[in-house]
Amino acid sequence: MKVSTAIETRMTVRQFLPTPVAKETICEILEIAKRAPSGGNLQPWNVHVLVGDPLAALVSDIDEKIGKGIEEEPEYNVYPPELVDPYKTRRRVVGQALYELIGVPRDDLPGKLKQLSRNFRFFDAPVGLFFVMHRQMEIGQYADLGMFMQNIMLLAREYGLHTCPQEAWARWPETLKEHLDLADHEMLFCGLALGFKDESAVINNLVSEREELDNFVTLHGFQ
Ligand SMILES: Cc1cc2nc3c(=O)[nH]c(=O)nc-3n(C[C@H](O)[C@H](O)[C@H](O)COP(=O)(O)O)c2cc1C
Repeated sequence: MKVSTAIETRMTVRQFLPTPVAKETICEILEIAKRAPSGGNLQPWNVHVLVGDPLAALVSDIDEKIGKGIEEEPEYNVYPPELVDPYKTRRRVVGQALYELIGVPRDDLPGKLKQLSRNFRFFDAPVGLFFVMHRQMEIGQYADLGMFMQNIMLLAREYGLHTCPQEAWARWPETLKEHLDLADHEMLFCGLALGFKDESAVINNLVSEREELDNFVTLHGFQ
């Protein structure tokens, strides 16, 4: 597969088939993905891969907590509290498109929360990955981690798989510390669902917009 095809066909999948993914496939993807660059070659990433019982135990624990109205102090702010435009609008547009597609009306807060909670089932994916870093890390290392994650998402395409990166997991730092047996210095950055796309699921028809080059590229020195 060409890199461009992997990039063009990668999308955030929010409904997976139960079809399992072989351990060898997951390890091969991680083996290749680890060639990602990182400043100073720190390779700051640590990955937890969950399938089967540990995955089911985590999902059911969180499900129970949500049912009881339990919430945790999020690990970090996923978005700036006062997000400015054009970013604020872009976020609203993609959110509205998603809810419209699945028939959740604008003012249906319980409907929106229900969709949000699907994150904590990894959208039914058979594999859940968690990316953890040392709390000491700075902005540069988060960029490194992003490149490593992108490698995984693009490689997944080569194996016929799809992904959903999930910052939503930052809402459950205590539960994840317990389930992943994290040390105090370890910080959960992001989850990632991995599996086969359910082609029949309406939610997977969402095609997110992108800006025109003119809106984010400044060319210098060209004639
Ligand atoms: C680091 C990161 C975290 C994300 N977290 C979530 C999430 O928690 N839940 C979710 O449904 N989508 C999540 N997304 C998916 C974005 O909403 C999606 O990438 C964006 O809308 C563009 O759509 P596309 O990936 O289909 O091109 C995340 C994406 C990234 C890169």
